[in-house]
Amino acid sequence: MVDREGERSMAERRILNLGIDLGTSRSVIACDNGVRTFISSYVGYPKDAVSRRLMGKEIVFGEEAIKNRLALNMRRPFEKGMIKYSNYLHDKPEEFRQHKETARHLLEHLVFLARREEPDDCHIRAVVGAPALASTQNRKSLLEITNGIIHDVMITSEPFAVAYGLGILTNALIIDIGAGTVDLCRMQGTIPTEDDQITLTKAGDYIDEVLLGLIKERHKGVDVTLNMIKRMKEENSTISDKGETVTATFPVHGKPTLLDVTEELRQACRAIVPETVEGIRTLVASFDPEFQDLLKQNIILAGGGSQIGGLAREIENYMRENLGSGKVTKVEEPLYAGANGGLMLCKDMPDEYWDELKSTGKQPGASQGL
Ligand SMILES: Nc1ncnc2c1ncn2[C@@H]1O[C@H](COP(=O)(O)OP(=O)(O)OP(=O)(O)O)[C@@H](O)[C@H]1O
Ligand SMILES: [Mg+2]
Repeated sequence: MVDREGERSMAERRILNLGIDLGTSRSVIACDNGVRTFISSYVGYPKDAVSRRLMGKEIVFGEEAIKNRLALNMRRPFEKGMIKYSNYLHDKPEEFRQHKETARHLLEHLVFLARREEPDDCHIRAVVGAPALASTQNRKSLLEITNGIIHDVMITSEPFAVAYGLGILTNALIIDIGAGTVDLCRMQGTIPTEDDQITLTKAGDYIDEVLLGLIKERHKGVDVTLNMIKRMKEENSTISDKGETVTATFPVHGKPTLLDVTEELRQACRAIVPETVEGIRTLVASFDPEFQDLLKQNIILAGGGSQIGGLAREIENYMRENLGSGKVTKVEEPLYAGANGGLMLCKDMPDEYWDELKSTGKQPGASQGL
């Protein structure tokens, strides 16, 4: 059997299902052939002929790029969960074009890692996570980078993908704490609409900036980069008052010096709590009054930021003070929860759904057709 393109028919072709989470900090892919992997969302391009020789390739991804960053022009293609400069299409078209191209390189690489030995003509379907309230333009840009790499694409809100993967479809509020955004999504047994979701931009990157500022303020002459701060935070992050003292060695006037950063770390990690609880309040207050308590008792944290020690307890305390009560838990696999859910959604959608998506171009949850 031969289809329009002269290839094997859909019925004969292997369908590869993917769940993809293109993150500001990490990009994750889960595939129904068993591959599950992630890379740091950094892409490096050799600066000159010597660095090209050193690297032996034209594009370097993830940790390898970070390690060799002095020889590379580095790009982090996503910011606040979307392709960088997406909101400055007219003011900075060249920067946007470059970052879009880089996002495409990253996606291509992830799909390459997932495909393994799959036949060249396999049909690739993917559910790609985006911030809860990504604009129509942002979703469109995301869709465009998948052209030629993925055959059928559905863009969905990242916390919805998490909820779907956990099988939690009603009376729950998912909070995905990423690097660029904190995404809140209320589940009430249907595909969430705009009213069910909130995107906040004080997330992991914001914690890093606050922490850098606090450490520089307290320890004059300290010389640290955001990258060093982020690493230190990930190794030690805690919000609890009962935690141990946290120290870090950073150069001060050129000399490695042991610094006590316990209080700065705690303060910086706490910085995202008030706004997050305000987000919870908005979604709870506009919920059916009979179910508001159920929602407050079922707050689920996901994303890399959910690994901050004591964060669930801190949010509970803050909720108790401001909303009367609250129960917060964390997902078991914060790194893979979004991609896993995307993969499940991808596999569960019937062929007719994908056909409809293709013919109408209308993505679920988008305010206007794309
Ligand atoms: N152990 C940890 N403690 C505290 N924060 C952590 C830890 N591990 C990762 N993070 C932070 O989590 C954030 C990354 O989380 P995640 O991988 O979910 O984000 P992302 O999907 O790349 O970002 P976004 O969803 O905003 O695009 C970063 O800010 C990172 O520093
Ligand atoms: Mg994310």
